[in-house]
Amino acid sequence: MCGIIGYAGPRNAQEVILDGLKRLEYRGYDSAGVAIVGRSLEIYKEKGEISKLASSMPSLDGHLGVGHTRWATCGQPSKMNAHPFLDCKGRIAVVHNGIIENHQALRKQLVEEGHVFTSETDTEVLVHLLEKHYKGDLHAALRETLREVKGTYATVALHVDSHQLVAARKENPLVVGLGHGENLFASDVTAILNYTNKALYIMDGETVVLDPQNVTIYDHEGRIVEREPHVVTWTVEDAQKGGYEHYMLKEIFEQPTAIHNSLLGSLEELENGSLMVDQDVPSVKLVACGTSYHASMVGKYIIEALAKIPTTVELASEYRYSPGTGENPLTVMLTQSGETADTLAAAREARRRGCRTLAVTNVVGSTIAREVDSVFYTNAGPEIGVAATKTYTAQLMAMYLLGIRLAQIRHAMGRDEVRELTSDLRGMPRYVGSVLDRSQQVNEAVDMLVPAQDVFFLGRNINYPTMLEGALKLKEISYIHAEGYAAGELKHGPLALLTKSTPVVAACVKDHTYEKMISNISEVAARNSPILAIGVEGDTDLAAVSDAIVYIPPISPILSPVPLTVMVQLISYYTAKKRGCPIDKPRNLAKSVTVD
Ligand code: F6R
Repeated sequence: MCGIIGYAGPRNAQEVILDGLKRLEYRGYDSAGVAIVGRSLEIYKEKGEISKLASSMPSLDGHLGVGHTRWATCGQPSKMNAHPFLDCKGRIAVVHNGIIENHQALRKQLVEEGHVFTSETDTEVLVHLLEKHYKGDLHAALRETLREVKGTYATVALHVDSHQLVAARKENPLVVGLGHGENLFASDVTAILNYTNKALYIMDGETVVLDPQNVTIYDHEGRIVEREPHVVTWTVEDAQKGGYEHYMLKEIFEQPTAIHNSLLGSLEELENGSLMVDQDVPSVKLVACGTSYHASMVGKYIIEALAKIPTTVELASEYRYSPGTGENPLTVMLTQSGETADTLAAAREARRRGCRTLAVTNVVGSTIAREVDSVFYTNAGPEIGVAATKTYTAQLMAMYLLGIRLAQIRHAMGRDEVRELTSDLRGMPRYVGSVLDRSQQVNEAVDMLVPAQDVFFLGRNINYPTMLEGALKLKEISYIHAEGYAAGELKHGPLALLTKSTPVVAACVKDHTYEKMISNISEVAARNSPILAIGVEGDTDLAAVSDAIVYIPPISPILSPVPLTVMVQLISYYTAKKRGCPIDKPRNLAKSVTVD
């Protein structure tokens, strides 16, 4: 995925665009570029981060422009393949997020017609098609172009002779920011918040013409669409680092608030029976990718424990190609961004199979909302760090709420049980706050992980997925190879890998698997692997079999994944920091994966 920004208005377009690109950098950061219309159309690109582009550019005087930060999908990360692209005469500029599937055939045809290509990208065909179809009206040329294109896009284009930007969207996010005498395009609202809190979400198949005064949206048949702006409640501060060294650390520390916000309103809806689902379901299927998949795995334990409903979990990238069983479970898509291509495709597949669909997402206006029957918003606020943290714990809160709601409908929980659990959920920000208060101890305890090449994360039962999540966090930000394992599985193979240079992080809470966990940890100790245990405060037995220990506060075992997750996030963060890794921008990764 990539980040797109476009500006038309009285301000210096270069400043607005570079500012917007910095805010969108989490979407991709292998190269970046801007095109500004001043006395002529000027274009600057660089391989690498936005700061490199900003420092290599002269000051430009212009009030109309586009910018792009790239995460390579077609063509190497390089200056040559960075967007924007220009047509042969250097009068049209285009930025694009998505994939043009028939780009090879189009390129061949355009080359035969005399167009000269300067990059290896699929996107470049768009600008040459615009050039071919341009007869004084860029919007008309865009509509002609889209008729020839197969694939997905959010794209913005400009022409040196006009004061307009034109754009189109198909399966990639695009937002319009409505200002006073100025308007913007962006891939998400974090890039427009400095200028306006009024947003128009562009839908699939729509095209847009934007100038400083007006924004006109057209449907796929060219009819004008009227749409009320959405007032964005996120603030600029929500989307900034606020004194923390990294967005990831800021977002880890925001979890008490994010959890509080994710419950806000939901507990009332739970009480009056209007939350998420309105009828009993025979079974549930949870579908997601990556970190959201781990939240789904925790969700399975929660739903089965609370509502006693058989629940399965599937990776979205597998589900969409699976044969299906003819059953119609309630199918729940978890996706913080709401834009993950595999999860969107899975939602479409679930509906094709006739399943009722629910999405759990953090981004209002994201595509998933349009692909499902109902949506639950986790309200965790913007997450900029590539590694998901607060959106994950907010997803866990959504799983507790869903589990209780399903249990209520089929009377699987008594009123008192519901009251007790919801009261514990209300207290979750305090439990998490108490883990955060111990961050200095975590910082010291991770020393044994810093030089490691391989680390194992062990857990059982509801905290087996928590440790899968711990392993994922560690590998993505510290580049240490990490594996999450169900502790009982260790003896079926991985034990062979344990040596004194293979540290093990083990989660051990006081549930019915406690004794087994202690004996698994002792097995590890017998292979001389250093053990960093995460236990419940006061657990001296666990401390006795570990080399280092960090504690979560006493909490009911079913709720323990939340504080334990915060602990593994801190462990991963401090390890990566001590290794000097670029924590907010891990190599080869981007915040949301809009390709499949
Ligand atoms: C890892 C991470 C990814 C995402 C995955 C799905 O920290 O963030 O594994 O969880 O790409 O993203 P969403 O939830 O946006 O569908």
